[in-house]
Amino acid sequence: MSQLWHYNEMKQVGTDYADAKEVEAYDTRMRKIRDIGSEIEKIFKSLYITKDQTLLEIGCGTGEFAIAAAGRCKKIIAADVSWPMLEFARQKAKKMDVKNIEFHNAGFLTYEHSGEPVDAVVSQLALHHLPDLWKMIALRRVNSLLKDGGRFYLKDTVYSFEVDGYKDFFDKFIENIRNAAGDDTALDAETAVREEYSTLGWIMEGSLERAGFHIDRKEYFEGFMAVYECTKC
Ligand SMILES: C[S@@+](CC[C@H](N)C(=O)[O-])C[C@H]1O[C@@H](n2cnc3c(N)ncnc32)[C@H](O)[C@@H]1O
Repeated sequence: MSQLWHYNEMKQVGTDYADAKEVEAYDTRMRKIRDIGSEIEKIFKSLYITKDQTLLEIGCGTGEFAIAAAGRCKKIIAADVSWPMLEFARQKAKKMDVKNIEFHNAGFLTYEHSGEPVDAVVSQLALHHLPDLWKMIALRRVNSLLKDGGRFYLKDTVYSFEVDGYKDFFDKFIENIRNAAGDDTALDAETAVREEYSTLGWIMEGSLERAGFHIDRKEYFEGFMAVYECTKC
């Protein structure tokens, strides 16, 4: 069967993370606007990962999380659909002499796992690159990769604002980003809203539950971001 109907996750939508310049700019921008250290502490607190365990990160980007996490577990499997992103992460890991990360050029729909199920999965700001049907399929695949009782930490752009006021919400959202991080970041945010597939909180919660997760904790912030801490049922 040709399966030409299958979604092609290797094709970039929205911001082009296959562009080497964008990858470098992304890394610099994120270091400026995010407190990666405290994000990592929060994720580890949620995952209960121990030093003898394996963690899979899907959509690892420039490797900030995977590299910081590598010292705290046996192995990290870091997957991303963008080859330049992976290459950037690989070089960063090499420079820092981090050796227990296995990099895969694959995504939610294409990563093929071999060996024991993993202890935990992390994904940050990547799932919204898939339309909702494919998000659901991706979540089922994540669930199948986890051991029983395994943990899933998902952070993504998920909308929780009142949809009646969407015009005002997005105007303010873009303006705030422009004021905080400049015109280029505002342009990226506009592209993301227009072309990527961020969904609504109730759709994401239903998808997680239907994919076989119990949502232990959820947090929505600023109307466009959410964190779900989940356990495989
Ligand atoms: C906004 S970046 C986030 C990177 C990193 N997780 C972080 O928090 O900085 C989105 C990443 O998701 C990747 N991505 C897009 N679609 C994907 C998919 N279907 N599966 C896995 N990764 C994907 C992109 O290549 C990019 O590296």
